[in-house]
Amino acid sequence: MAEEMRVLLPGESEDLSSLENYKNTGGYKALEKAQAMDRMDLIETVKKSGLRGRGGAGFNAGMKWQFSYSVDTEQKYVICNADEGEPGTYKDRILLETVPHRVLEGMAICAYAIGASQGYIYCRGEYPFVVESLNNAIKEAKDSGVLGDFDIEVRMGAGAYVCGEESALIESIEGHRGEPRFKPPFPPVTGLWGKPSIVNNVETLACVPLIVEKGADWFKSIGAANYPGTKLLTLTGDVVERKIIEVPTDVTIRQVVYDYGGGIRDGKKFKAVQIGGTSGGFIPEDLLDTTIDFDSMNAIGAVLGSGAVFVMDESRDLVDVVERIAKFFEHESCGKCIPCREGTKRMHEMMERVNQGLGTGDDLNNLERLGLVMTKACLCGLGQAAPAPVLTTLNHFRTEYNAKLA
Ligand SMILES: Cc1cc2nc3c(=O)[nH]c(=O)nc-3n(C[C@H](O)[C@H](O)[C@H](O)COP(=O)(O)O)c2cc1C
Repeated sequence: MAEEMRVLLPGESEDLSSLENYKNTGGYKALEKAQAMDRMDLIETVKKSGLRGRGGAGFNAGMKWQFSYSVDTEQKYVICNADEGEPGTYKDRILLETVPHRVLEGMAICAYAIGASQGYIYCRGEYPFVVESLNNAIKEAKDSGVLGDFDIEVRMGAGAYVCGEESALIESIEGHRGEPRFKPPFPPVTGLWGKPSIVNNVETLACVPLIVEKGADWFKSIGAANYPGTKLLTLTGDVVERKIIEVPTDVTIRQVVYDYGGGIRDGKKFKAVQIGGTSGGFIPEDLLDTTIDFDSMNAIGAVLGSGAVFVMDESRDLVDVVERIAKFFEHESCGKCIPCREGTKRMHEMMERVNQGLGTGDDLNNLERLGLVMTKACLCGLGQAAPAPVLTTLNHFRTEYNAKLA
């Protein structure tokens, strides 16, 4: 099995979960270093490192911070997005369980950079043990004084996928129904309780102390030039080894499946891989040599997203898989905007019809038309990305649909 590049995750035999162990390996030194820097120089360092969000949208982290920094107001917030509602993804859980202080340190550095005194971690409701260990880690850090005046509270989600979307997450923390907001304004300027708020993914924040400690050039030298660093991937499905791996962002999908994952289970042949979670595109064999970085994935109509890698062997019925995904989106649509509320329902209905052998060529055309409309018209990323599995399988695996038509 190919060797991982462990930068964020501890080594196999390393235990960095306690404050003491984390500090013994240089933990919280980056926060001290950051606090001795001019705030704008710190933001420039993060910008220069090329760090882009690991939660799905791939936005330059330093640039986002600068938007909040530039707003002159007393109260600002740092929010760590640990909602991790994406099926087939548990990399944030592993980071929070194994190196919670790296994430807290990243939040504290961000807080110093933008001028925030309060942080929140919005944690997936299905992770009660993570919430418990996070609260312990926060207490340890507060009691020892390393966080100074910066306070962090953990808020639990209640199981809605859409609450991972940053503005729905903010609504949820405010105690409202978790529905996305109209944008602009964007959260870095008008976020939690109307104040500038940085929402960053767990993995994005975990990169920050390392960038401050080792420098922007060090980070930039790892992986793909346009999306540097490492990426945590969750390998699931018909791959030999189902696990979390950390790899540089310039590895190919083929390397991920075969060199890191050990190939296809039970001696079967590869059929497809879906990357980025439920809203990720399906990738056929002839595109396996694409590198996993954000832009390369977009270029083939796929997404890196949260880094979920769902491998499917030759026996998988892709129309059936996509119907299940369409059902998931119908269920998870919050219903605030019509294109998503109606679109996910109609999309599931058509997929169900086709999967049951009752569909026609018109259904396939309508699935495509509906998918394109949703991509453009839905209010948030949930509805905009929901059609991707349908559209990419219609594109790459149309014969499977044709074989099921009435
Ligand atoms: C439906 C939906 C669910 C999302 N779920 C998550 C999530 O669980 N975790 C996450 O970090 N980002 C999630 N995002 C992306 C966030 O809206 C946001 O882009 C991200 O937290 C920003 O952090 P980053 O710049 O560090 O990636 C989701 C987006 C959408 C549209």
